[in-house]
Formats: sequence, C-alpha cells, structure tokens
Amino acid sequence: MTTPRKIIIDTDPGQDDAVAILLALASPEEIDLLGVVAVAGNVPLPLTEKNSRIICELAGRSDMPVFAGCDAPMKRKLVTAEHVHGKTGLDGPQLPEPTMQLQAQHGVDFIIETLRAEPAGTVTLVPIGPLTNIGVAFRRAPDIIERVQEVVLMGGAYFEVGNITPAAEFNIYVDPEAADIVFKSGAPITVMPLDVTHKALTSAKWISDVKALDTNVGHMVASWTDFFERFDTEKYGSQGAPLHDPCTIAYLIDPGLFQGRFINVEIETTSELTLGMTVADWWGVTDREPNAMFIGSVNDTGFFRLLTERLARL
Ligand code: BDR
Ligand code: CA
Repeated sequence: MTTPRKIIIDTDPGQDDAVAILLALASPEEIDLLGVVAVAGNVPLPLTEKNSRIICELAGRSDMPVFAGCDAPMKRKLVTAEHVHGKTGLDGPQLPEPTMQLQAQHGVDFIIETLRAEPAGTVTLVPIGPLTNIGVAFRRAPDIIERVQEVVLMGGAYFEVGNITPAAEFNIYVDPEAADIVFKSGAPITVMPLDVTHKALTSAKWISDVKALDTNVGHMVASWTDFFERFDTEKYGSQGAPLHDPCTIAYLIDPGLFQGRFINVEIETTSELTLGMTVADWWGVTDREPNAMFIGSVNDTGFFRLLTERLARL
C-alpha cells in the first residue's frame, strides 16, 4: 500500500472548489489533507473562509483545520466572480451556517510552518484559486520552495485562452504577480488549465447519478452543479459545467486519467491587454526552460466515474 500524499488545498470556494475539497476528503487512501487555506478570489475572503468551513462540515470533517489567508492580491485590487458563482460563492442550495471555528493562525503562516515542519519533499500544495497565498509564502520564506513536493494548480489556458478577459483565465488574472512568483520558483508544477477543464464537463446523466446517491452531499453537489452550469452553457453553448478545480485532486488520485506536456509557461504581468495570460510554449518554439507539466486532456468518463464513486462515500 502506498502512503497517502500530504496536501494543503488553497481555495476560494466556489462550487467547483467545493467538489475538489469533497473529493479529497473522500479519498483518504491517496490523499492526506493537512488543512484548507482560504484566499480571496471568486468572492471576498470572509465568504471563502466561511464556505471552506461549510464544505468540511458537509463532509463530516469539522476537525479539519481551516485558515484564512490573504484578503487581496499582492499588488492589485481584488477582482471577484459573483457572475459565475453567485453572491455567496456557493449559490444553488440553501447553505447551513457553519459551526466549526476558523483557525486563529494566518493561512500563509500555516503553509510556511507546515512545509518547514514536515520532511522535505513530502507536502504538495494544491492552489485552486488565485495564487496569492502561495506567492506571499514563497516571497516571505524562500527556504520552503525546495521543500515542496509539487504544486498542482488550477489556472491558465493556452488553446482556450481566457475566461475573465479574452487572454486570461480567472485564477491567474486575479493575481498575476503571485502566479509569476510561483511559475518562476523552480518548484515542480503541474497545471490544470482551461484546455483540460473545459473537457471535464458535467452531463445531465452525471448530475442525476449524483442526485440518486440520495445523500446530503449528493443533493448539495447536484444543486451546486445545476447553478454553476447555467453560466457556461449560456456563455460557451457547452453541454454542462466544467469541473475545473476537481481536476487537481483527480490527478493526484489517478494521474493516468490526464495527459500533458512538460513545457515553459510564463505569466504576463505588464501588458494591460493580456494581463495574466499564461504564455505556454506548447509547440516548443522557444528554448526557454520547461518549468511546468501543462495538462491538455482528460479521460472524462474515468474522471466522472471516480467522482461519483468517491462522493458516494460521504
Ligand atoms: C477558476 O476560477 C474560478 O471561478 C473557479 O473556481 C476555478 O478555480 C476557473 O477559471
Ligand atoms: Ca477556484
């Protein structure tokens, strides 16, 4: 038996963030979730930290430490995405008030202390929101960078280009300076860009399978997906909603579901027009050093089968 991978999820829930956290909590054989750190992103920090607690409680894990990290990007004003996720960030079902407490420690300190305390090369960071907390941690404590096992993040795009601007994906656009620090850090990076997440589309059949679980988790996830779906079906004319963030956790559980290329990826931080673009050398047209495994495709049948199977455990 392999030992489960120790991870920290850095998140801005977000319906798809919620599914990612639930998938991690449902997969103790592969994933040892050390803590959840909230960041400002889809909605402001007071909501993302509250939502993180709601999600852990929904999974029966009120013992999971949840931290609040940064409430604004490193250099810019916060941009949010209520137009996608609704006012609460988790619009769809009726949300319970969480009863578990937020940890007193700042989320960035938790990231730094955990990486220093655990053996080097044994903790994976999973950012599924803007990269602010990770960028601040790497800037403040550069000694932790070489201790990171891997950064498996959702963000960016090459073929799909942008979803918040014509050129940029939301997570990278919100804090391009933080993303730049992470991509230049030298830590091993795996990226789930829109190129792959737009292939992980929910279907009516999947939503009905999840409803049919007839559990609290099943009903919440179905209702979150129903809400979240309307944005992408209207915008892209796609069949369902892309489950962006759960791709990171599914990759950690079963990397064989995904394929990509180890390439150079750099972040645009100066141009107003293309701010936050992930300039990905997919075709190898430069001699810039590869720094990231950039995922391009997913076995969607296997991905959704894994999700249903795992959510059924909660
Ligand atoms: C990313 O932005 C957020 O809206 C989602 O939660 C996901 O992390 C997709 O661009
Ligand atoms: Ca997110």
